[in-house]
Amino acid sequence: MEIIYSIRKKAARLKRRVVLPEGAEERTIQAADFLIAEGIADVVLLGVKGQIENQAARYGLKHISRARIVDPYRIDPKDEERYVEMMVSLRGAKGVTPDIASKQLQNPLYLGAVMVKAGDVDGEVAGAVNFTGDVLRPALQYVKTAPGISVVSGAFIMRIPDKSFGDNGTLLFADCAVSPDPTARQLAEIAISTARTARSIVGIEPRVAMLSFSTRGSAQHPSVDKVVEATRIARSLDPNLVIDGEMQSDAAIVPDIAERKAPGSKLGGRANILIFPSLEVGNIAYKLVQRLAHAEAIGPVLQGMAAPVNDLSRGCSVDDIINVVAITACQTELS
Ligand code: ACO
Repeated sequence: MEIIYSIRKKAARLKRRVVLPEGAEERTIQAADFLIAEGIADVVLLGVKGQIENQAARYGLKHISRARIVDPYRIDPKDEERYVEMMVSLRGAKGVTPDIASKQLQNPLYLGAVMVKAGDVDGEVAGAVNFTGDVLRPALQYVKTAPGISVVSGAFIMRIPDKSFGDNGTLLFADCAVSPDPTARQLAEIAISTARTARSIVGIEPRVAMLSFSTRGSAQHPSVDKVVEATRIARSLDPNLVIDGEMQSDAAIVPDIAERKAPGSKLGGRANILIFPSLEVGNIAYKLVQRLAHAEAIGPVLQGMAAPVNDLSRGCSVDDIINVVAITACQTELS
Protein backbone atom coordinates (compact mmCIF):
# COMPACT_ATOMS: atom_id res chain seq x y z
CA MET A 1 0.00 0.00 0.00
CA GLU A 2 2.82 2.44 0.85
CA ILE A 3 4.27 1.94 -2.64
CA ILE A 4 0.99 2.77 -4.33
CA TYR A 5 0.41 5.73 -2.02
CA SER A 6 3.80 7.22 -2.89
CA ILE A 7 3.27 6.53 -6.62
CA ARG A 8 -0.07 8.39 -6.50
CA LYS A 9 1.54 11.27 -4.63
CA LYS A 10 4.40 11.51 -7.11
CA ALA A 11 1.93 11.40 -10.04
CA ALA A 12 -0.03 14.28 -8.50
CA ARG A 13 3.20 16.30 -8.32
CA LEU A 14 3.98 15.58 -11.99
CA LYS A 15 0.48 16.54 -13.25
CA ARG A 16 0.69 14.48 -16.44
CA ARG A 17 -2.01 14.08 -19.09
CA VAL A 18 -3.13 10.49 -19.73
CA VAL A 19 -5.49 9.26 -22.44
CA LEU A 20 -8.06 6.56 -21.60
CA PRO A 21 -9.33 5.08 -24.89
CA GLU A 22 -12.13 3.10 -23.20
CA GLY A 23 -13.73 6.41 -22.16
CA ALA A 24 -17.32 5.30 -21.62
CA GLU A 25 -16.45 2.06 -19.82
CA GLU A 26 -17.94 2.09 -16.33
CA ARG A 27 -14.81 1.41 -14.24
CA THR A 28 -12.70 3.66 -16.45
CA ILE A 29 -15.02 6.64 -16.10
CA GLN A 30 -15.21 6.21 -12.31
CA ALA A 31 -11.41 6.04 -12.15
CA ALA A 32 -11.20 9.15 -14.35
CA ASP A 33 -13.48 11.06 -12.00
CA PHE A 34 -11.29 10.15 -9.00
CA LEU A 35 -8.06 11.00 -10.87
CA ILE A 36 -9.39 14.45 -11.72
CA ALA A 37 -10.85 15.06 -8.24
CA GLU A 38 -7.58 14.10 -6.53
CA GLY A 39 -5.39 15.87 -9.10
CA ILE A 40 -3.45 12.64 -9.81
CA ALA A 41 -3.54 13.21 -13.58
CA ASP A 42 -5.31 15.21 -16.26
CA VAL A 43 -7.49 12.88 -18.26
CA VAL A 44 -8.46 12.65 -21.92
CA LEU A 45 -11.38 10.28 -22.54
CA LEU A 46 -11.96 8.79 -25.98
CA GLY A 47 -15.54 8.00 -26.95
CA VAL A 48 -18.92 9.44 -27.82
CA LYS A 49 -19.53 12.55 -25.71
CA GLY A 50 -23.22 11.76 -25.06
CA GLN A 51 -22.39 8.22 -23.87
CA ILE A 52 -19.66 9.46 -21.56
CA GLU A 53 -21.96 12.14 -20.12
CA ASN A 54 -24.74 9.57 -19.57
CA GLN A 55 -22.35 7.27 -17.71
CA ALA A 56 -21.12 10.19 -15.61
CA ALA A 57 -24.73 11.07 -14.70
CA ARG A 58 -25.52 7.41 -13.96
CA TYR A 59 -22.67 7.18 -11.43
CA GLY A 60 -23.15 10.72 -10.09
CA LEU A 61 -19.64 11.72 -11.18
CA LYS A 62 -18.99 15.40 -10.59
CA HIS A 63 -15.57 15.95 -12.14
CA ILE A 64 -15.82 14.38 -15.62
CA SER A 65 -16.80 17.77 -17.08
CA ARG A 66 -13.14 18.74 -16.53
CA ALA A 67 -11.88 15.90 -18.77
CA ARG A 68 -11.19 16.50 -22.44
CA ILE A 69 -13.36 14.19 -24.54
CA VAL A 70 -12.34 13.20 -28.08
CA ASP A 71 -14.77 11.27 -30.27
CA PRO A 72 -12.75 9.08 -32.70
CA TYR A 73 -15.44 9.68 -35.34
CA ARG A 74 -15.35 13.48 -34.91
CA ILE A 75 -11.69 14.33 -34.50
CA ASP A 76 -10.89 18.02 -34.99
CA PRO A 77 -9.95 18.19 -38.73
CA LYS A 78 -6.65 19.97 -37.98
CA ASP A 79 -5.68 17.26 -35.48
CA GLU A 80 -6.74 14.53 -37.88
CA GLU A 81 -4.63 16.01 -40.67
CA ARG A 82 -1.61 16.21 -38.31
CA TYR A 83 -2.10 12.64 -37.08
CA VAL A 84 -2.56 11.17 -40.57
CA GLU A 85 0.57 12.92 -41.83
CA MET A 86 2.57 11.60 -38.89
CA MET A 87 1.20 8.07 -39.27
CA VAL A 88 2.01 7.91 -42.97
CA SER A 89 5.51 9.28 -42.38
CA LEU A 90 6.10 6.66 -39.66
CA ARG A 91 4.54 3.66 -41.38
CA GLY A 92 4.17 4.54 -45.05
CA ALA A 93 6.85 1.97 -45.84
CA LYS A 94 4.71 -0.62 -44.02
CA GLY A 95 1.77 0.19 -46.30
CA VAL A 96 -0.07 2.82 -44.23
CA THR A 97 -1.76 5.23 -46.67
CA PRO A 98 -3.76 8.35 -45.67
CA ASP A 99 -6.97 6.29 -46.08
CA ILE A 100 -5.70 3.48 -43.84
CA ALA A 101 -4.46 6.01 -41.26
CA SER A 102 -7.87 7.77 -41.16
CA LYS A 103 -9.61 4.42 -40.65
CA GLN A 104 -7.16 3.42 -37.91
CA LEU A 105 -7.89 6.68 -36.07
CA GLN A 106 -11.53 5.61 -35.71
CA ASN A 107 -10.26 2.84 -33.44
CA PRO A 108 -9.76 4.46 -30.00
CA LEU A 109 -6.75 2.20 -29.28
CA TYR A 110 -5.00 3.55 -32.40
CA LEU A 111 -6.11 7.13 -31.72
CA GLY A 112 -4.77 6.88 -28.15
CA ALA A 113 -1.38 5.57 -29.29
CA VAL A 114 -1.12 8.24 -32.00
CA MET A 115 -1.99 11.01 -29.51
CA VAL A 116 0.86 9.73 -27.32
CA LYS A 117 3.28 9.73 -30.26
CA ALA A 118 2.16 13.23 -31.31
CA GLY A 119 2.88 14.47 -27.78
CA ASP A 120 -0.74 15.58 -27.23
CA VAL A 121 -0.84 13.36 -24.12
CA ASP A 122 1.95 11.99 -21.93
CA GLY A 123 0.75 8.39 -21.72
CA GLU A 124 -2.07 5.91 -22.32
CA VAL A 125 -3.92 3.30 -20.25
CA ALA A 126 -6.37 0.79 -21.76
CA GLY A 127 -7.36 -2.85 -21.51
CA ALA A 128 -10.37 -2.86 -19.18
CA VAL A 129 -12.34 -4.37 -22.07
CA ASN A 130 -9.74 -5.00 -24.78
CA PHE A 131 -7.24 -7.87 -25.12
CA THR A 132 -3.57 -7.23 -24.29
CA GLY A 133 -2.50 -7.76 -27.91
CA ASP A 134 -5.06 -5.23 -29.20
CA VAL A 135 -3.86 -2.60 -26.72
CA LEU A 136 -0.19 -3.26 -27.40
CA ARG A 137 -0.15 -3.51 -31.21
CA PRO A 138 -0.98 0.17 -31.99
CA ALA A 139 1.54 1.29 -29.36
CA LEU A 140 4.25 -1.03 -30.69
CA GLN A 141 3.58 0.24 -34.21
CA TYR A 142 3.43 3.99 -33.51
CA VAL A 143 4.91 4.81 -30.09
CA LYS A 144 7.77 2.33 -30.61
CA THR A 145 10.61 1.58 -28.20
CA ALA A 146 12.83 3.91 -26.17
CA PRO A 147 16.35 4.72 -27.48
CA GLY A 148 18.72 1.78 -26.91
CA ILE A 149 15.85 -0.64 -26.21
CA SER A 150 14.41 -2.91 -28.90
CA VAL A 151 11.91 -4.87 -26.84
CA VAL A 152 8.85 -3.95 -24.80
CA SER A 153 8.26 -6.06 -21.72
CA GLY A 154 5.94 -6.17 -18.73
CA ALA A 155 7.05 -6.21 -15.09
CA PHE A 156 4.98 -7.00 -12.03
CA ILE A 157 5.74 -5.39 -8.69
CA MET A 158 5.14 -8.29 -6.30
CA ARG A 159 4.40 -7.53 -2.66
CA ILE A 160 4.97 -10.75 -0.71
CA PRO A 161 3.60 -11.02 2.85
CA ASP A 162 6.88 -12.70 3.94
CA LYS A 163 9.09 -9.62 4.34
CA SER A 164 12.30 -11.68 4.36
CA PHE A 165 12.28 -11.84 0.52
CA GLY A 166 13.53 -9.11 -1.83
CA ASP A 167 13.39 -5.60 -0.37
CA ASN A 168 11.15 -5.95 2.64
CA GLY A 169 8.83 -8.28 0.67
CA THR A 170 9.00 -6.35 -2.62
CA LEU A 171 10.32 -7.99 -5.80
CA LEU A 172 9.92 -7.24 -9.50
CA PHE A 173 9.20 -10.07 -11.96
CA ALA A 174 9.71 -9.71 -15.76
CA ASP A 175 8.78 -10.35 -18.49
CA CYS A 176 5.31 -11.53 -17.46
CA ALA A 177 3.25 -9.87 -20.17
CA VAL A 178 4.64 -9.18 -23.64
CA SER A 179 7.45 -11.03 -25.43
CA PRO A 180 6.83 -14.76 -25.78
CA ASP A 181 10.35 -15.92 -26.62
CA PRO A 182 13.05 -13.26 -26.09
CA THR A 183 16.52 -13.63 -27.56
CA ALA A 184 19.57 -13.31 -25.29
CA ARG A 185 19.92 -9.64 -26.29
CA GLN A 186 16.23 -9.01 -25.59
CA LEU A 187 16.48 -10.78 -22.23
CA ALA A 188 19.39 -8.50 -21.33
CA GLU A 189 17.33 -5.44 -22.30
CA ILE A 190 14.41 -6.71 -20.20
CA ALA A 191 16.79 -6.86 -17.22
CA ILE A 192 17.98 -3.28 -17.88
CA SER A 193 14.41 -1.97 -18.30
CA THR A 194 13.25 -3.70 -15.12
CA ALA A 195 16.16 -2.25 -13.16
CA ARG A 196 15.07 1.21 -14.36
CA THR A 197 11.48 0.52 -13.29
CA ALA A 198 12.72 -0.63 -9.87
CA ARG A 199 14.68 2.58 -9.35
CA SER A 200 12.24 5.10 -10.74
CA ILE A 201 8.82 3.66 -9.92
CA VAL A 202 9.41 1.52 -6.83
CA GLY A 203 12.39 3.45 -5.43
CA ILE A 204 14.62 0.42 -4.73
CA GLU A 205 18.20 -0.31 -5.81
CA PRO A 206 18.07 -3.25 -8.25
CA ARG A 207 19.70 -6.65 -7.58
CA VAL A 208 18.97 -8.73 -10.66
CA ALA A 209 18.86 -12.54 -10.94
CA MET A 210 18.75 -14.06 -14.43
CA LEU A 211 16.76 -17.23 -13.82
CA SER A 212 17.18 -20.66 -15.32
CA PHE A 213 16.87 -24.31 -14.33
CA SER A 214 20.67 -24.32 -13.95
CA THR A 215 23.02 -22.54 -11.51
CA ARG A 216 26.56 -21.83 -12.71
CA GLY A 217 26.65 -24.59 -15.28
CA SER A 218 24.86 -27.28 -13.25
CA ALA A 219 22.91 -28.19 -16.41
CA GLN A 220 23.69 -27.92 -20.13
CA HIS A 221 21.05 -26.88 -22.61
CA PRO A 222 20.63 -24.20 -25.30
CA SER A 223 18.08 -22.40 -23.09
CA VAL A 224 20.69 -22.24 -20.30
CA ASP A 225 23.22 -20.84 -22.80
CA LYS A 226 20.71 -18.12 -23.68
CA VAL A 227 20.51 -16.94 -20.06
CA VAL A 228 24.32 -17.04 -19.67
CA GLU A 229 24.67 -14.94 -22.81
CA ALA A 230 21.91 -12.54 -21.70
CA THR A 231 23.73 -11.97 -18.39
CA ARG A 232 26.96 -11.21 -20.25
CA ILE A 233 25.19 -8.72 -22.54
CA ALA A 234 23.37 -7.02 -19.63
CA ARG A 235 26.71 -6.56 -17.85
CA SER A 236 28.21 -5.00 -20.96
CA LEU A 237 25.18 -2.68 -21.37
CA ASP A 238 25.33 -1.56 -17.73
CA PRO A 239 28.62 -2.45 -16.01
CA ASN A 240 27.38 -0.97 -12.70
CA LEU A 241 24.26 -3.12 -12.51
CA VAL A 242 24.24 -5.70 -9.70
CA ILE A 243 23.30 -8.81 -11.70
CA ASP A 244 24.08 -12.51 -11.63
CA GLY A 245 23.08 -15.62 -13.57
CA GLU A 246 22.38 -18.07 -14.81
CA MET A 247 20.82 -19.28 -11.55
CA GLN A 248 17.89 -21.22 -10.16
CA SER A 249 15.21 -19.31 -8.30
CA ASP A 250 16.16 -20.72 -4.87
CA ALA A 251 19.75 -19.56 -5.30
CA ALA A 252 18.38 -16.13 -6.23
CA ILE A 253 16.19 -15.54 -3.18
CA VAL A 254 17.42 -17.79 -0.34
CA PRO A 255 20.81 -16.74 1.17
CA ASP A 256 21.65 -20.24 2.54
CA ILE A 257 21.10 -21.87 -0.84
CA ALA A 258 22.97 -19.08 -2.63
CA GLU A 259 25.96 -19.81 -0.40
CA ARG A 260 25.95 -23.44 -1.47
CA LYS A 261 25.02 -23.12 -5.16
CA ALA A 262 26.51 -19.73 -6.05
CA PRO A 263 29.18 -18.88 -3.47
CA GLY A 264 30.53 -15.37 -3.83
CA SER A 265 27.53 -14.20 -5.86
CA LYS A 266 27.00 -10.43 -5.56
CA LEU A 267 23.33 -11.17 -4.94
CA GLY A 268 23.94 -13.40 -1.94
CA GLY A 269 20.44 -14.87 -2.28
CA ARG A 270 18.89 -11.40 -1.91
CA ALA A 271 17.71 -10.66 -5.46
CA ASN A 272 14.85 -8.18 -5.74
CA ILE A 273 14.43 -8.54 -9.52
CA LEU A 274 13.74 -11.91 -11.13
CA ILE A 275 14.15 -12.09 -14.90
CA PHE A 276 12.47 -15.16 -16.41
CA PRO A 277 13.82 -16.89 -19.53
CA SER A 278 10.47 -16.69 -21.38
CA LEU A 279 6.99 -15.16 -21.13
CA GLU A 280 5.53 -18.59 -20.38
CA VAL A 281 7.60 -18.92 -17.22
CA GLY A 282 7.17 -15.30 -16.12
CA ASN A 283 3.40 -15.24 -16.59
CA ILE A 284 2.88 -18.59 -14.85
CA ALA A 285 5.25 -17.68 -12.00
CA TYR A 286 3.68 -14.34 -11.11
CA LYS A 287 0.17 -15.81 -11.04
CA LEU A 288 1.29 -18.74 -8.87
CA VAL A 289 3.09 -16.47 -6.41
CA GLN A 290 0.08 -14.15 -6.33
CA ARG A 291 -2.26 -17.03 -5.45
CA LEU A 292 -0.11 -19.41 -3.40
CA ALA A 293 1.81 -16.79 -1.42
CA HIS A 294 -1.09 -14.30 -1.26
CA ALA A 295 1.12 -11.69 -2.87
CA GLU A 296 -0.19 -8.42 -4.23
CA ALA A 297 0.72 -8.17 -7.94
CA ILE A 298 0.88 -4.60 -9.24
CA GLY A 299 1.12 -4.34 -13.02
CA PRO A 300 1.96 -5.24 -15.62
CA VAL A 301 4.10 -2.12 -15.83
CA LEU A 302 5.02 -1.96 -19.50
CA GLN A 303 8.63 -0.97 -19.98
CA GLY A 304 10.80 -0.05 -22.92
CA MET A 305 8.28 2.10 -24.84
CA ALA A 306 9.35 5.54 -26.03
CA ALA A 307 6.43 6.92 -23.96
CA PRO A 308 4.40 5.07 -21.36
CA VAL A 309 1.47 2.91 -22.45
CA ASN A 310 -0.02 0.44 -19.99
CA ASP A 311 -2.41 -2.44 -20.32
CA LEU A 312 -5.07 -3.32 -17.73
CA SER A 313 -6.41 -6.72 -16.88
CA ARG A 314 -10.03 -7.14 -18.03
CA GLY A 315 -10.81 -8.09 -14.44
CA CYS A 316 -9.43 -4.77 -13.13
CA SER A 317 -11.12 -2.69 -10.46
CA VAL A 318 -11.57 1.09 -10.40
CA ASP A 319 -8.65 1.26 -7.95
CA ASP A 320 -6.45 -0.77 -10.32
CA ILE A 321 -7.10 1.73 -13.11
CA ILE A 322 -6.28 4.67 -10.82
CA ASN A 323 -3.03 2.97 -9.82
CA VAL A 324 -1.99 2.12 -13.38
CA VAL A 325 -2.66 5.72 -14.49
CA ALA A 326 -0.51 6.94 -11.58
CA ILE A 327 2.29 4.52 -12.58
CA THR A 328 1.97 5.72 -16.20
CA ALA A 329 2.37 9.33 -15.07
CA CYS A 330 5.49 8.42 -13.08
CA GLN A 331 6.96 6.51 -16.05
CA THR A 332 7.03 9.74 -18.08
CA GLU A 333 10.16 10.59 -16.12
CA LEU A 334 11.85 7.60 -17.77
CA SER A 335 11.00 8.45 -21.37
N1 ACO B 1 8.81 -5.11 -28.33
C1 ACO B 1 8.96 -4.18 -29.28
N2 ACO B 1 8.34 -4.26 -30.48
C2 ACO B 1 7.57 -5.34 -30.71
C3 ACO B 1 7.39 -6.35 -29.74
C4 ACO B 1 8.05 -6.21 -28.51
N3 ACO B 1 7.92 -7.08 -27.51
N4 ACO B 1 6.55 -7.30 -30.25
C5 ACO B 1 6.21 -6.88 -31.50
N5 ACO B 1 6.83 -5.70 -31.77
C6 ACO B 1 6.71 -4.86 -32.97
C7 ACO B 1 7.08 -5.60 -34.22
O1 ACO B 1 8.44 -5.48 -34.48
C8 ACO B 1 6.21 -4.91 -35.24
O2 ACO B 1 6.80 -3.71 -35.62
P1 ACO B 1 6.66 -3.23 -37.16
O3 ACO B 1 5.22 -3.43 -37.56
O4 ACO B 1 7.08 -1.80 -37.13
O5 ACO B 1 7.58 -4.11 -37.94
C9 ACO B 1 4.94 -4.52 -34.47
O6 ACO B 1 5.32 -4.54 -33.09
C10 ACO B 1 3.82 -5.48 -34.66
O7 ACO B 1 4.39 -6.77 -34.48
P2 ACO B 1 3.62 -8.10 -34.75
O8 ACO B 1 4.57 -9.24 -34.53
O9 ACO B 1 2.89 -8.04 -36.05
O10 ACO B 1 2.54 -8.01 -33.62
P3 ACO B 1 1.83 -9.18 -32.96
O11 ACO B 1 0.54 -9.31 -33.65
O12 ACO B 1 2.64 -10.39 -32.83
O13 ACO B 1 1.65 -8.59 -31.52
C11 ACO B 1 2.17 -8.71 -29.27
C12 ACO B 1 2.71 -8.34 -30.63
C13 ACO B 1 0.79 -8.15 -29.13
C14 ACO B 1 3.04 -8.10 -28.18
C15 ACO B 1 2.18 -10.24 -29.15
O14 ACO B 1 3.50 -10.71 -29.08
C16 ACO B 1 1.41 -10.77 -27.97
O15 ACO B 1 0.19 -10.94 -28.08
N6 ACO B 1 2.12 -11.06 -26.84
C17 ACO B 1 1.52 -11.71 -25.69
C18 ACO B 1 0.61 -10.78 -24.94
C19 ACO B 1 -0.18 -11.57 -23.95
O16 ACO B 1 -1.18 -12.16 -24.29
N7 ACO B 1 0.31 -11.57 -22.68
C20 ACO B 1 -0.26 -12.36 -21.62
C21 ACO B 1 -1.42 -11.70 -20.99
S1 ACO B 1 -1.00 -10.28 -20.07
C22 ACO B 1 -1.09 -10.80 -18.43
O17 ACO B 1 -1.42 -11.87 -18.08
C23 ACO B 1 -0.67 -9.81 -17.47
